[in-house]
Amino acid sequence: MWSCITDFFTYETTKSVVVKSWTIGIINRVVQLLIITYFIGWVFVYEKAYQIRDTAVESSVMTKVKGFGVYNNKLMDVADYVTPTQGASVFCIITKMITTENQVQGYCPESEQKYNCSQEKDLCIKFFFPRSGILTGRCVAFNKTNKMCEIKGWCPAEIDTIKTMPMMEVENFTIFIKNSIRFPTFNYTKGNFLPNITNSYIQNCRFDMVNNTYCPIFRVGDVVRYAQQNFTKLADKGGVIGIKIGWICDLDKSDDECNPSYSFTRLDAMSTKNDVSPGYNFRFAKYFKMENGTDYRSLVKAYAIRFDVLVNGNVSMHLCVCVFISSINITRFNLTFCFLGTVLCDIILLNFLKGAEQYKAKKFEELSLRHNEAIMRSSDSGAFSIEQYT
Ligand SMILES: *[C@@H]1O[C@H](CO)[C@@H](O)[C@H](O)[C@H]1NC(C)=O
Repeated sequence: MWSCITDFFTYETTKSVVVKSWTIGIINRVVQLLIITYFIGWVFVYEKAYQIRDTAVESSVMTKVKGFGVYNNKLMDVADYVTPTQGASVFCIITKMITTENQVQGYCPESEQKYNCSQEKDLCIKFFFPRSGILTGRCVAFNKTNKMCEIKGWCPAEIDTIKTMPMMEVENFTIFIKNSIRFPTFNYTKGNFLPNITNSYIQNCRFDMVNNTYCPIFRVGDVVRYAQQNFTKLADKGGVIGIKIGWICDLDKSDDECNPSYSFTRLDAMSTKNDVSPGYNFRFAKYFKMENGTDYRSLVKAYAIRFDVLVNGNVSMHLCVCVFISSINITRFNLTFCFLGTVLCDIILLNFLKGAEQYKAKKFEELSLRHNEAIMRSSDSGAFSIEQYT
């Protein structure tokens, strides 16, 4: 019991023993070389762990669409087909519209076939999910042959089953994108108008993946094609296209090498596989007042291609090695790894080499201050030294 207590209250201090042995010396240097190669090769050159990174990009996107189209014999300009109009990073270009003119508040028959009550008189009393307005429960004449359930709401009810052609000129419309970014960690600012872009170039250029990779003007047809979509299908049903701007920069290199890269995808890929709700559409209304003061409106069901401009960034910059050592790569794994050489050499020395007993005696020396004399002891096993390091 007493010996347990005295064994516990001890202090261990490191003592360096220089072993002049070819075998262990070579093993030691080879292991050290491997570790240094690992650090330089993998951590420094491959993973670039000496750099710090910033992926939190502050970004602003401004967009402007240009082009004219003809729809239902009307000329359409930007104010007619782009919504919202503010030029934000998310905007819609309307390709197809189903307009229900002159709607007023009142009572009228529903228009959709499932509300047909010609055969089943009490159909309208049963619960239905309302479409254009609240069902009153009455069954009223729709046309000469059919009767429909009556609704209270904006009348006449919209008929959205008519087939219309999308506005094909949208394919030739252009999207102009202005993007500024800032990486707060480095206070690094840049925009997608590169310094070598001139006014005359911007007036005529169109983005393409080969020759004009930095032109900030995109033809809608090209964007759709780069996103591997069929324009006619997309314009007919509507959809969401992502324009991704990636800023992957190494600030150790010159500023000219920090350039945006554009890529394009369809973001609502799910709706191409699923027939339940294909594409993208929404409704809005324009309101007017009659002379007697009552409101009337034009309801528009719009099919649109929505563009989402998404900006992501990843910049890295060189850091001094001291900061690197203290902050990044001294993980528990690497610490263990560094000690691996010592542990390995100790195991060999203490167990497998000639003179292991002598080395043990030198390495684990017990010093008792109380009796003021040093006692050499060689009964420790090599396993103890491994425990120290792991
Ligand atoms: C788009 O522009 C090209 C060339 O200016 C023209 O040949 C083509 O007919 C246009 N497409 C549409 C759908 O208007």
